[in-house]
Amino acid sequence: MPSARLPIRTGRVPIRTGRLVLRPSTAADAERAFEIQSDWDVTQMLRMARFPPDRQVMADWFADHEQEWQAGTACRFAVELDGRMIGLADLDGIDGHQGELGYWYEQTAWGHGYAFEAASALRDFAFRDLGLSSLKSGHAADNAASCRVLLKLGFKLIDIVEVFSNSRGESIRQCRYLLEAPGRAS
Ligand SMILES: CC(C)(COP(=O)(O)OP(=O)(O)OC[C@H]1O[C@@H](n2cnc3c(N)ncnc32)[C@H](O)[C@@H]1OP(=O)(O)O)[C@@H](O)C(=O)NCCC(=O)NCCS
Repeated sequence: MPSARLPIRTGRVPIRTGRLVLRPSTAADAERAFEIQSDWDVTQMLRMARFPPDRQVMADWFADHEQEWQAGTACRFAVELDGRMIGLADLDGIDGHQGELGYWYEQTAWGHGYAFEAASALRDFAFRDLGLSSLKSGHAADNAASCRVLLKLGFKLIDIVEVFSNSRGESIRQCRYLLEAPGRAS
């Protein structure tokens, strides 16, 4: 199915929050992402990722990010703290007026509110700048931290389904969520 193009005003410019900079990711971020996803505790929660990560696959994926943005299908950001990439937050699967929120961080960055801070900014970017009308997201049923992030953002649980996790190599229970843009929620 063809994907909608983003409005022209959404240039690849960084988003600044209180403590973080969300910088549109580039091919140069692949090695750092490879390091972060070499941690099983991170990657077991990413059902589309492979473990251990493959350096070339990672490089190819990051090399595509600029093109994905231009095509209007995904906006991905390296999340920086004091100039160092600590993770990635993205909107992908953008199609029509819907997209999907995702994020992952190195373990030493957990528990400081960074995931929520970055995701809040990305949610606002999605609704205000991209003009999306709803966001999907999801987490493995055993991912309590991500559950908390999504609920704090205002996401509502839609259902729990069985899906295959590439990283775990088995089926898992996946909690799926939806967030409507302000003024659209029923
Ligand atoms: C999920 C993840 C992004 C959370 O990152 P984080 O930086 O620790 O999250 P925050 O610090 O912003 O915490 C957000 C909320 O979750 C809560 N939280 C954090 N870890 C938790 C845990 N293990 N159990 C329950 N709640 C938890 C925090 O207390 C906070 O809630 P509060 O403000 O009410 O106290 C991070 O653990 C991660 O990258 N995990 C691996 C990849 C991943 O799971 N990605 C998401 C896939 S769906």
